[in-house]
Amino acid sequence: MAHSAALSSEQYNYDIVKKFAIVSIIWGILGMTAGVYIASELAWPFLNFDVAQITFGRLRPLHTSGVIFGFGGNALFATSYYVIQRTCQTRLAGGTFWPNFTFWGWNLSVLVAGLLYLQGYTQGREYAEPVWFVDIAITVVWVVYFLIFTITLMKRNQPHIYVANWFYMSFILATALLHIFNNLAVPISLTSPVSYSLFSGAQDAMTQWWYGHNAVGFFLTAAFLGMMYYFVPKQAGRPVYSYRLSIIHFWALSFMYMWVGTHHLHWTAIPDWTSTLAATFSILLLMPSWGGMINGIMTLSGAWDKLRTDPIMMFMITALSFYGMSTFEGPMMSLKSVNALSHYTDWTVGHVHSGALGWVAMISIASFYHMIPRLWNTTLHSMKLVYTHFFLATIGTILYITALWVSGIGQGLMLRAFDEYGNLAYTFVETVVFMHGPLVARAVGGLFFLSGMLIMAYNIYMTVTRAKQEESVSVAAAAKA
Ligand code: HEM
Ligand code: HEM
Repeated sequence: MAHSAALSSEQYNYDIVKKFAIVSIIWGILGMTAGVYIASELAWPFLNFDVAQITFGRLRPLHTSGVIFGFGGNALFATSYYVIQRTCQTRLAGGTFWPNFTFWGWNLSVLVAGLLYLQGYTQGREYAEPVWFVDIAITVVWVVYFLIFTITLMKRNQPHIYVANWFYMSFILATALLHIFNNLAVPISLTSPVSYSLFSGAQDAMTQWWYGHNAVGFFLTAAFLGMMYYFVPKQAGRPVYSYRLSIIHFWALSFMYMWVGTHHLHWTAIPDWTSTLAATFSILLLMPSWGGMINGIMTLSGAWDKLRTDPIMMFMITALSFYGMSTFEGPMMSLKSVNALSHYTDWTVGHVHSGALGWVAMISIASFYHMIPRLWNTTLHSMKLVYTHFFLATIGTILYITALWVSGIGQGLMLRAFDEYGNLAYTFVETVVFMHGPLVARAVGGLFFLSGMLIMAYNIYMTVTRAKQEESVSVAAAAKA
């Protein structure tokens, strides 16, 4: 492979990265607004207003798809297209048409899926709710994404494939595999959104949770680790702490995640050995996950002062800490005895958001703060606002997850308590009354997080507007000269 000098910014395809980044922030705000609304519905059920389209059941998938595929998905497209060009020192493959095809194809798919949820059409499979024809559209977009990524990789001007690209590639390949198998279904007619899965009974549940956990493993984890391996060293101005560890991290995660899906189905009709296998691999997963976290945090060696002075770095290190925390909590919850208490309670939802808010959202936010000024060749409008955002996001996340520890563990303990006659000590309704306080606190935590996102949107808007003004001034000056 030939070596060549670094390309200049104009030679990269930054337009597509800009589009994906901006739309990701917009989806983030919409998806989190839905999150705050459904959190409030759980605390104050009158907010359902007896309007079918805004009931909890219909808004919940809108929230999960909005944040995972809208916010997270677009953030991954944006950063993967940026990182691959920078690390391969080459322009993105596919000209302008094909990257734009992935942009419109992906966003229209998420939008149409979301609008159909409001009308009550979903496949009823968690994180795979879109109806069959949207699934087909997503498959086509994904194949194009894979080709753009691979062809760019093949025409790289660097001998080496940087580790971030390995993570992105595993995410692209694994998502294709999961999406296709979990969505195998027969439509009832070509004009109806309704379809029936090819699987049934225990096989159906196992396929769904093989998908569900690997969506966590490859979409919500491996891909964001790709982001982490590029943006943390860049922001720290240091090389990654141990390149060897990053390779071990990559292969160990890729191998282990595929086995753990059935920890979502403990104590159900699946064969017991599959439960045990899943729990075993879940415990093993702790090691590579913490290896990765340590590798990220130690990248700051020699630049620890940045933790006091640089709010973007604060976001990154906090994200890595939440990554470590959720990957400690997850293995613990996969133990059958712990899961007997945690499953069917808010503890699970709290665990989800320590990963989703603390890790996924925070590392994306930090990467955007690093990348967006560089895309527009300018500096951030206000670092003070980044600080404010950081504190709102951190307080919001902590409030969210501690509230749900109280609600979840409290409810779990109440549901299994007996009185001196061996009868259940509490009725279900009593547990719901107990949960009201923590559910209010969770909604407030969500509001904190959302306010931070709004501040970010304002900061980015001002940054981009100023960059455009600066550009038009310099174009006018060049024309005069
Ligand atoms: C303002 C921030 C957020 C709020 C207030 C919020 C609120 C909620 C609520 C109320 C639920 C329903 C829980 C239930 O069914 O009992 C939920 C579910 C979920 N949210 Fe969020 N959310 C937020 C941000 C996010 C983000 C950024 C992500 C992902 C990147 C995310 C991913 C999920 C997932 C995966 C679920 C399903 C959890 C489960 O089934 O256990 N959320 N969220
Ligand atoms: C070593 C890593 C991890 C392990 C072993 C693990 C394990 C678990 C376990 C045992 C559950 C509860 C299953 C149940 O009772 O139904 C769970 C739920 C969940 N976890 Fe994790 N977790 C890990 C990391 C993460 C991370 C980093 C994230 C997010 C970015 C995450 C997102 C989720 C989601 C979305 C669910 C809820 C699924 C649902 O019921 O809808 N997990 N995890």
